[in-house]
Amino acid sequence: MVLLGNILVLIDTVLLFSSKEFGMITPENYQKWFATEPVRNQFNFTGADYIVKWAHKNGQAVRGHNFVWHSQLPDWLNNGTWDKKTLNSIMVNHIVKMGSHFRGKLYAWDVVNEPYNDDGTWRSTIWHDIIGPEFISTALTTAHAVDPFAKLYINDYNVEGVNAKSDAHYNLAKSLLKKHVPYHGFGIQGHLVVAQLPKDIPQNIARFAGLGLEVAITELDIRMDLPNNAKNATLQANDYKTVVNACVDNRACVGITVWETSDDYSWIPGVFPTQGDALLFDTNKDPKPAYYAVADALKAA
Ligand code: G3I
Repeated sequence: MVLLGNILVLIDTVLLFSSKEFGMITPENYQKWFATEPVRNQFNFTGADYIVKWAHKNGQAVRGHNFVWHSQLPDWLNNGTWDKKTLNSIMVNHIVKMGSHFRGKLYAWDVVNEPYNDDGTWRSTIWHDIIGPEFISTALTTAHAVDPFAKLYINDYNVEGVNAKSDAHYNLAKSLLKKHVPYHGFGIQGHLVVAQLPKDIPQNIARFAGLGLEVAITELDIRMDLPNNAKNATLQANDYKTVVNACVDNRACVGITVWETSDDYSWIPGVFPTQGDALLFDTNKDPKPAYYAVADALKAA
């Protein structure tokens, strides 16, 4: 069974909406470093705790997002001057504290988020540049030690089809698994554009599945040039169907999470001002053709 999930903001009407339509939740920004460790070694899990409690009350699974990312870091971490040993201990401490707080409560964790550039080279981040690429195996091993039942993911965007970036992830996966590093799932974010889907999403999912990994579509949205019109809405519905089918057609693909519920909460207009309307519900919270396409594809599976 493929679980359909969404991300959440702390507004009860949105939470209510979520528990009616979705079986899984990701706490959008509430588990990121700026929110959880705003001061070194002082942790705040208030926002995420609220969501996790809500999810469990409503029988929803939770995907943790995330332990190690280059973005949305607090100033003390971004502006500090760190040597390798200190930064490594900061990373390990963050994973141990947050991982033990949520131990047993989350289905999966995005342990490492977005480690590569689109051309498949390492992204220059404090983690890579100061600790070295081994930050990934340290993060996974630490997360597994504190929460042995959580599925541990590496998550990225622009890795839906076979390309230089997904090749880099594929090679990384092979090397981690060969060394018996606890790595369980490849997270394909799925920030896509209407009528521009890669053709080889099924082949890409299949090659990661072939390594023994599970796969999830973790942040799906399919944006379009605004204003929306009937043609774009139909194209978008077809694209959603294509992605859902690519997941449900492979047993290794365990979940599809949409990155917000209705268009008024999407991150997209803030970053791509001429684009939007990327989600399943419109700003009135009415279901769009894409919603019915997803529902039909899930029903048919
Ligand atoms: O918290 C401040 C608030 O105090 C301030 O008034 C406001 C003014 O702009 O900004 C608020 O911060 C915003 C933050 O979200 C929290 O809401 C930032 O501006 C905004 O840039 C930030 O955007 C988030 C983005 O990650 C940052 O990269 C989006 O909400 C979030 O959906 C998005 O999610 C990421 C995934 O984590 C990883 N994959 C890509 C995806 C989309 O960018």
